[in-house]
Amino acid sequence: TLVLAAGMVAAYLLGSINFAIIVTRLFKKGDIRDYGSGNAGMTNVLRTVGKTAALLTLLGDFSKGILSVLFVRLLVLLFHVPGDIVIFDYLVAFAALLGHLFPVFYGFKGGKGILVSAGAMLILSPWALLCCFVAFMLFAVTTRYISLGSIVAGVMYPLANLFLTWLQYGSVHWTEVILSALIGALAIFMHRANIKRLLSGTESKVSFKKKSAE
Ligand code: G3P
Repeated sequence: TLVLAAGMVAAYLLGSINFAIIVTRLFKKGDIRDYGSGNAGMTNVLRTVGKTAALLTLLGDFSKGILSVLFVRLLVLLFHVPGDIVIFDYLVAFAALLGHLFPVFYGFKGGKGILVSAGAMLILSPWALLCCFVAFMLFAVTTRYISLGSIVAGVMYPLANLFLTWLQYGSVHWTEVILSALIGALAIFMHRANIKRLLSGTESKVSFKKKSAE
């Protein structure tokens, strides 16, 4: 438990390092949360700063997810932690996610966690990540609403794990499905303002053309 608690605190602190905020400051554009959707995430950086800044944010926030799970795996190895590694993995990924959503360094106002979850998924369940990515691209590119792609990916995550664990083990690994459902539900909950805007037709679209975002 002590190792788990230490891992979660470290992951929370790592998650709290928000690359949308850092990169936007580096580009001398002030606080990203004062612009566009007010969200400290890649989409809003793309919308307000530009493509290079968005790419840097993507790399940073995605790496946080990867590193938090790799870190917990290292702890498990070093301290010979017994028991169900899956729960351990997800709890630390969850802590990193909470750091990203409610960062201690930035007044507890961060992003929506899609890239952090994606980074964690790359290690936890790469095939589920691929399913989510395909679903995301399908919806984001055709509708040009990045938020809709994210929401669909949130729904896809537990469904993909349901199918993939059944395929892999011959029976569904419910712990993994439930834990990924929690992460998916959190992603959808974080998009509640986007859902309202999507329903009222006021959500902003992103441009995939050569010139930067709308
Ligand atoms: O991952 C965040 C994205 O889905 C929506 O971002 O800035 O449009 O609220 P934003």
